[in-house]
Amino acid sequence: MRREIVAGNWKMNMDLAQTESLIDELIRTLPETKAEVMIAPTFTSLYRAFQLLRTHKIEVVAQNMHFEESGAYTGEISAGMLKSIGVNTVILGHSERRAYFGETDEILAKKVNTALEQEMEIIFCFGEELEDRKSGNHFKVVASQLKNALFHLPADQWKNIILAYEPVWAIGTGETASPEQAQEMHEFIRKTIAEVYNDDLAQGVSILYGGSVKPNNAAEIFSKPDVDGGLIGGASLKAADFGAIASAF
Ligand code: G3P
Repeated sequence: MRREIVAGNWKMNMDLAQTESLIDELIRTLPETKAEVMIAPTFTSLYRAFQLLRTHKIEVVAQNMHFEESGAYTGEISAGMLKSIGVNTVILGHSERRAYFGETDEILAKKVNTALEQEMEIIFCFGEELEDRKSGNHFKVVASQLKNALFHLPADQWKNIILAYEPVWAIGTGETASPEQAQEMHEFIRKTIAEVYNDDLAQGVSILYGGSVKPNNAAEIFSKPDVDGGLIGGASLKAADFGAIASAF
């Protein structure tokens, strides 16, 4: 049985007071769901979010971290620092980090190694840009992102990896990959992993879809056999929408 997960990536939204208020609403209103629910607030709200949700099933995760343990890296946060406030899961490789902060596959491979050394769990994001899809290169691009950042890992490390396929053209645009496009890519990802490792490992990895998931399309996307949940941006900032998406399971 693969884990089913609905995770909210708050990106650079919500100050401390807004974080407290959204969490309060989530605690009061989150509907029943089979899925594990996670939220990723900004660094300045992370510890407060962890405190507020300490006894709640919603897990608090981080949006990023540096690969070094400590030192002269102004503005950065280490895996150890996250763990010290109770955060054990980190999102790595988001397309916004790749596009605006120069995160290459090579840097991401280092971050993945550090997170795993620190026994953290990773939500690893990847996905093609619009030009890649238009030129029919989307499978090649996705395979190479996986290979460059993850395929050096020994099989036993994969238990701490959650994948999030996020086609860049569907992020924040209102344009969702169709459930069929999502399924097609998720199936390809699983096949690619099976070729490098083995079928059991590939079948055990949870693969989330991200990109304009909303209450009105979540159930259909999540119903696809290789889609194990979603990484939700905009719609995770409203408790009612996020709850509706989580309850689509
Ligand atoms: O990480 C989630 C993401 O990038 C999708 O954002 O706003 O299209 O749901 P959004």
